[in-house]
Amino acid sequence: MDYGDVFNSVDAVEYYVGSARQWAYYHRHALGFDLVGYAGPETGVRDRVSYLMKQGNVKMMFTSFLNYNSPIADHVKYHGDGVRDISMKVDNLGDTIDFIKQKGVAKYDQPRKIKTGNGTLNVATLRSYGETLHTLNDYSEYENNLPPGFQEVDQKGKPSGLKKIDHIVGNVEDKMMDPWVDYYVKGLGFEQLISFDDKDISTEYSSLRSKVVHYGNRRIIFPINEPAIGLKKSQIQEYLDYYNSPGVQHIAIETDNIIKTVEDLASRGVEFLTTPHVYYETLPERVGKIDEKLEDLERLNILVDRDDDGYLLQIFTKPVGDRPTFFYEIIQRKGATSFGKGNFKELFKSIEIEQAKRGNL
Ligand code: FE2
Repeated sequence: MDYGDVFNSVDAVEYYVGSARQWAYYHRHALGFDLVGYAGPETGVRDRVSYLMKQGNVKMMFTSFLNYNSPIADHVKYHGDGVRDISMKVDNLGDTIDFIKQKGVAKYDQPRKIKTGNGTLNVATLRSYGETLHTLNDYSEYENNLPPGFQEVDQKGKPSGLKKIDHIVGNVEDKMMDPWVDYYVKGLGFEQLISFDDKDISTEYSSLRSKVVHYGNRRIIFPINEPAIGLKKSQIQEYLDYYNSPGVQHIAIETDNIIKTVEDLASRGVEFLTTPHVYYETLPERVGKIDEKLEDLERLNILVDRDDDGYLLQIFTKPVGDRPTFFYEIIQRKGATSFGKGNFKELFKSIEIEQAKRGNL
């Protein structure tokens, strides 16, 4: 049977964190998200609090525990603050599960129906790398903008131009990249976009390997990294050591005007990785003609790369939580549909400067 497209898009990203209220505050006041929903004791949810936030098409949920013996507390103790669930919208959960069953690769929990006063939400949960989940949400019998158990909140943020999730990157252990690529390709019908080996992505000290899988003509993009052996510790290994397992390394969010977005975010205290002056000296010969002024890019530490279709601009934040694990990328695509090789190396060097400061290089 031809199932057609079984996955629609990334729905929301749920984080398990030590203080959901503080993560919500940061995302509203620094990143410009609206707070749109809340669940907790006041809404009949006894064991946790969750804040639901939105900007453009980006939906995030920050969840924390209220009791010491909560599985959320265990997750935070073990991993620190991090991504628990990248949920995906599906049009027909029954077909999606049949498709996954037929492929016979991905593990999932039995589909369940959550009945509410506003219809039934059909969900199933896939298990991905580490403790990361993909909950599949079928909203076809559900008539509510908020998940079950949430009440509406209307606290606007000051938008910073963040529009949609471009890609979500996972870090996995050495030799585990290919099995996880197979999970998405053979198990879930994704396609492989591109791969970088350790020669492409290495500095003097350390390296990594990376492959990109995507679904529905790049509607969903999940790059997967693994550490490679170098003279010193790979940044992927540093992540694995602090997260204590594979997990989500970064989420890239797209903007239509990266200069304005980064100016806004920096003025509100978002900290970005810096890029050495020499990068901008050689930039014109590497990427050719671009619309942006070189001095704006250097002032804001924005990176530029090119592929066969065009170019892209990108920048990476410092880790968002306390451990050197999860961070954000801001990206603007000007024609480029994939990922340039050049910036991997630059990102790598910038991260190594920070890694050395932590005594982990
Ligand atoms: Fe990225």
